[in-house]
Amino acid sequence: MGKRHSLQEARQMWEETVLAPYQAKSGERQTDFSTVSEVPVERLYTPLDAPSDKYMENVGFPGEYPFTRGVYPTMYRGRLWTMRQYAGFGTAEESNLRYRYLLEQGQTGLSVAFDLPTQMGYDSDDPVAQGEVGKVGVAIDTLKDMEILLDQIPLDRVSVSMTINAPAAILLLMVVAVAKKQGVDLTKLTGTIQNDVLKEYAARGTYIFPPNPSMRIITDIFRWCSAHLPRWNTISISGYHIREAGSTAAQEIAFTLANGIAYVEAAVKAGLPVDKFGPRLSFFFNAHMDFFEEIAKYRAARRIWARIMRDRFGARDPRSWQLRFHTQTAGSTLTAQQPETNVVRVTLQALAAVLGGTQSLHTNSKDEALALPTEDSARLALRTQQVIAYESGVPNTVDPLGGSYFVESLTDRLEQEATRYLDKIEALGGSVAAIETGYIQREIQDAAYRFQKKVEQGEQIIVGVNRFRLDEEPPENILKIDASLEARQIAKLNQVRKERDAARVKAALDKLEQAAGQADAPLMEPMLEAVEVYASLGEIVGVLQKHFGRYRPPAFI
Ligand code: 3HC
Repeated sequence: MGKRHSLQEARQMWEETVLAPYQAKSGERQTDFSTVSEVPVERLYTPLDAPSDKYMENVGFPGEYPFTRGVYPTMYRGRLWTMRQYAGFGTAEESNLRYRYLLEQGQTGLSVAFDLPTQMGYDSDDPVAQGEVGKVGVAIDTLKDMEILLDQIPLDRVSVSMTINAPAAILLLMVVAVAKKQGVDLTKLTGTIQNDVLKEYAARGTYIFPPNPSMRIITDIFRWCSAHLPRWNTISISGYHIREAGSTAAQEIAFTLANGIAYVEAAVKAGLPVDKFGPRLSFFFNAHMDFFEEIAKYRAARRIWARIMRDRFGARDPRSWQLRFHTQTAGSTLTAQQPETNVVRVTLQALAAVLGGTQSLHTNSKDEALALPTEDSARLALRTQQVIAYESGVPNTVDPLGGSYFVESLTDRLEQEATRYLDKIEALGGSVAAIETGYIQREIQDAAYRFQKKVEQGEQIIVGVNRFRLDEEPPENILKIDASLEARQIAKLNQVRKERDAARVKAALDKLEQAAGQADAPLMEPMLEAVEVYASLGEIVGVLQKHFGRYRPPAFI
């Protein structure tokens, strides 16, 4: 038996006696390899790259600090992730039919997409709304629309997520009003509002009020929900759109968690104990194309957030340390060319999200680079999740790639890069200041530019787009939105205005205006009163705007 070599020595010998001669005969495809986020990828990873003496500190066990391997001890052996397809278009009637169809097809959670007028706080008959009503999501003007949207959907059994930010409080209170009409015990009502306005300033753009009044509304939502809706997730701190805007994986982690820090700081400053609202914070990440980088990204994000909540904010409830998240596969990677190849992309992205321990998942439809999904393509997107869940075997053990030398090394690397960004943002005065100076936007734009340049130069291959193209793209059956819907929606809104008690609406709006004018006055209670007398979204936002104004981005961004 020859002298036992250390792993280091053995590796050295392999490089000299096996690798080098082989390379002399046949080189490699590229001089260097990196992830889509420019993180270098080595030829081979060994235990030298993921030292096992750091296991308990860095990796640990699922369901306990630092949660690297997952937030629950049994993960998908106890409960599969929620299959939660983002959907909504036209009027509440059309979207209600799509939701009931997807639930019949086996989806296990609801995810409401609102049209832009709703997201920006305009009624469907506002001149600004013209041409956008019911386009990228469902048009919701009053409680009447929400009653139709959730018709025959049991709110005591189905969790409702809403992608709504600036007017999130109003849409949440509409769901609460419907739940009360359904006789649902509000302490059982579960769901999520995105309610993450900071990323709207940085990446998505559906803001209404300036940052400070927005933070006031968000912390008032935290206060009201911790008292009335204990199972409601009050915010979905989103990295999805930051990534869609072109950030790297490490920036997605850092800019999202920096926003999370800002929300926690604001709530603690408003007098809320961190463990009162911490357990109901949730997150939302992208599932992008670089398979292993995405898995490492989720694992690194869980570890960083656990440390931030325990060590920086002194949270004592382990549920405050858990980073529970929803994932959507990357819309920006979908191609209009050869749309069927998108099914392969979405499958790989969905698999990465599951291997990364997501709690809830939306899989994009193959035709979404062309239009909102048809029923058939939405069903295939859901079936993709169901095949992973019920046929692949992947959910049968917790964090199956944990311990992979590559994945653990990449997790460490992303944690280091994200932490460097977090320190930089801290030095700039936190996320709000970093957004106001344009730092975060510039970092995202620079990363997006570098990636796009690689695509233009053919360095980054996009199948069907800059390689393996078809001369003739076959016709694709896409969803068409009925042009008459805008008139139908406006007629419905006018009918509600005619039937409601105008005096009670005025009284409720006056009460809300008074509260908005007093710095620390609660807003949720007067807003609920206005919603329940069928005040419209535009009327409620209009009252708040009198005191809060509308945000105008600085010229230099
Ligand atoms: N054993 C036992 N119980 C388990 C379990 C297990 N293994 N796993 C989960 N559970 C329990 C949980 O504890 C929970 O119970 P609780 O409510 O009493 O705590 C229950 O089962 C549900 O589990 P989760 O909370 O993990 O799953 P949900 O799906 O309910 O919640 C979430 C997931 C991430 C916390 C939540 O915030 C969520 O659903 N977010 C979705 C956000 C979303 O859909 N966003 C869409 C945005 S679309 C967009 O913006 C893109 C557009 O702009 C283009």
